[in-house]
Amino acid sequence: MNGWRLTGLLSLLLLAMTAYLLADEPDVEGLRTVIRATARTSLILFAMAFAASALVELAPGAVTRWHRRNRRYIGVSFAFSHAIHLAALVALAQIDPELFWTLTNPTTLVLAGTAYLLLAAMTATSFDRTAAWLGARTWRLLHLVGGWYIWISFAVAIGKRLSQGPVYWALMALLLGVAIVRLVAMSRRSRRARAVAA
Ligand code: HEM
Repeated sequence: MNGWRLTGLLSLLLLAMTAYLLADEPDVEGLRTVIRATARTSLILFAMAFAASALVELAPGAVTRWHRRNRRYIGVSFAFSHAIHLAALVALAQIDPELFWTLTNPTTLVLAGTAYLLLAAMTATSFDRTAAWLGARTWRLLHLVGGWYIWISFAVAIGKRLSQGPVYWALMALLLGVAIVRLVAMSRRSRRARAVAA
């Protein structure tokens, strides 16, 4: 499974999960379950897309090359998962505004809203034509800044919940793991570039 078919399959699975959770609990609690579940699927898909190039640098092989080839399609699946997170949040804000404002605040809205703007820009430039229109340098800058901003957004959201149980520690370990993999690959690349220049 490769390319847009992979995005299609992952999106269908995400829709099926959402439908199942809402059918099981067709109320505000069901929406909250969808918000939490999609935050977690988003985190896993984001971590996969974020680490793909670094993993092939550190451990080249058939699996990491498949992963790297499909980075864009996994990234778009992350955007789809996070669009469901947003849709469920909007539904919650409509149905129970009081509960919505006890779960969030204007500062989070602005900071997390910025993550959504960056995610939208990164998704819109994930197609050959739009990427070419933006140019390689600007594309790299947008995806570098956007990727780390989203990483920080996840780290803050998970960090706030560490006292709520081991699942949050596991999610934080995954986030720290992909950051370390990226930084090690980056330092290896720059050492190689310096050696070539010398
Ligand atoms: C305007 C934008 C956003 C709002 C208003 C928002 C709001 C919320 C709320 C209310 C919850 C808790 C749901 C509950 O306990 O019932 C939640 C969970 C979460 N959100 Fe968002 N969110 C937004 C964007 C984001 C972004 C951009 C990220 C990360 C990039 C993110 C990551 C998470 C995570 C990791 C959780 C924890 C899920 C869990 O408990 O397992 N959210 N969000």
